[in-house]
Amino acid sequence: MPKYMPEPFRIKVVEPINLISREAREAAIRRAGYNVFALRATDVFVDYLTDSGTGAMSHHQWAAMMEGDESYAGARSYFRLKDAIQDVFGFDEFLPTHQGRAAENILAAVLVKPGMKVPSNMHFDTTDANIRARGGNPVNLVIDEAFDPSCIHPFKGNLDLKKLESFISETGVENIPFGMITITNNAGGGQPVSMENIRMVAEMYHRHGLPFFIDAARFAENAYFIKLREQGYGHKSVREIVKEMFGYSDGFTMSAKKDAIINIGGLLACRDKEVFQKLSNELILREGFVSYGGLAGRDLEVMSVGLYEGMDEVYLSYRLAQTDYLAQSIKQLGMSVIEPTGGHAVYVDAGKLLPHIPAAEFPGQALAVAMYQEGGIRACEIGSVMFAHPDPETGVMVHPRLELVRLAIPRRVYTQSHLDFTVEVLADIAKKSASLKGFRFSYAPPLLRHFTCRFEPIA
Ligand code: F0G
Repeated sequence: MPKYMPEPFRIKVVEPINLISREAREAAIRRAGYNVFALRATDVFVDYLTDSGTGAMSHHQWAAMMEGDESYAGARSYFRLKDAIQDVFGFDEFLPTHQGRAAENILAAVLVKPGMKVPSNMHFDTTDANIRARGGNPVNLVIDEAFDPSCIHPFKGNLDLKKLESFISETGVENIPFGMITITNNAGGGQPVSMENIRMVAEMYHRHGLPFFIDAARFAENAYFIKLREQGYGHKSVREIVKEMFGYSDGFTMSAKKDAIINIGGLLACRDKEVFQKLSNELILREGFVSYGGLAGRDLEVMSVGLYEGMDEVYLSYRLAQTDYLAQSIKQLGMSVIEPTGGHAVYVDAGKLLPHIPAAEFPGQALAVAMYQEGGIRACEIGSVMFAHPDPETGVMVHPRLELVRLAIPRRVYTQSHLDFTVEVLADIAKKSASLKGFRFSYAPPLLRHFTCRFEPIA
């Protein structure tokens, strides 16, 4: 077995979890239309659905809750967060939002016009959908290595500069409202982006007069990967690395439910004063006043603490080691995972495990359902259910290149024995993989369909 790094915390509050019976699991997943998003969480034993908003708060964060100032305007908690954001990211102005997609919605509402294209390494599904919802087209320009699950590359989340250069000249700057990059690249396996790539992407956007926004959900994990893997950064602190990364950007959207280790919250920041004013007006319409943006004062306090805890290097080294432990243990079963291991999740290659199930019959969904049936484990399909879409010009269904199941690890929540249990369940599934069957939709909405769609098994 790979070695496990002990958790750098002890447990102060516990929340019981139950492994319900096999019959009860079969009934629960049938009732859910074979969509794990429709399961009751009390029917789940180990929940890897997401690392978003599922982290355990520290004693400092719980204490900070009591400091919350719930004033509608100008709350003390807002100014505390403003100081933290200036200190951590070097941005003077920011808007709190209730989560990351709210920041994306506001940014897209203000800057994306129908027919425009927004480049990134890879857009996450909510970013993708928010751009489409305004009539725009999200464009993914990640390096080709990202599509080869076994290719070892230290920064597989990098944006391909050649692809970007030709994209800009073919599209024309007038049709590009802004450029983005996602750190770490969640849709591509939680893979980091190098500092060199961030700097060069920023330079290219700026050379063409385009503002550069970072989708910063996992900024701290990305910074720690830079420290571990990029020449010249080994002696720098995560704090310094974060400051440098954001120093190249003109703004960022952030789901604070990840690396700020809070249960709810997001951020939108922008240096351009005129654009910031428009974003503020849109925020007031959709989220709330500029000093709370859909959050309670106590949430702002908890975020101020969590931003720093998420950058703690002892925590980050444990965090990345825990993810790698799970990945290496799954690999030892003979299953393929995206390599090298990303920050927040292990991505199992369901397409490879279930070659008898075609993409149109959702091999990732078949594996996710089997994990629940076998062991009450909930994990999320990241493949054709989430990303297959008709080509806007030809109408032909375009499938993503990989059919994955993501095991996202909540922060500071599960211990080694939960991971070992998961590996045992996957070992049982590996033995009977040839008997697993595909699925078809019985209902699917047009956007973000994985959340509410329903399936029926293909006999
Ligand atoms: N950007 C990235 C890279 C994300 O991973 C997410 C959320 C968002 C934006 C949207 O943030 O959920 O706060 O609205 N990812 C979660 C996940 C849902 O499970 O990976 P949100």
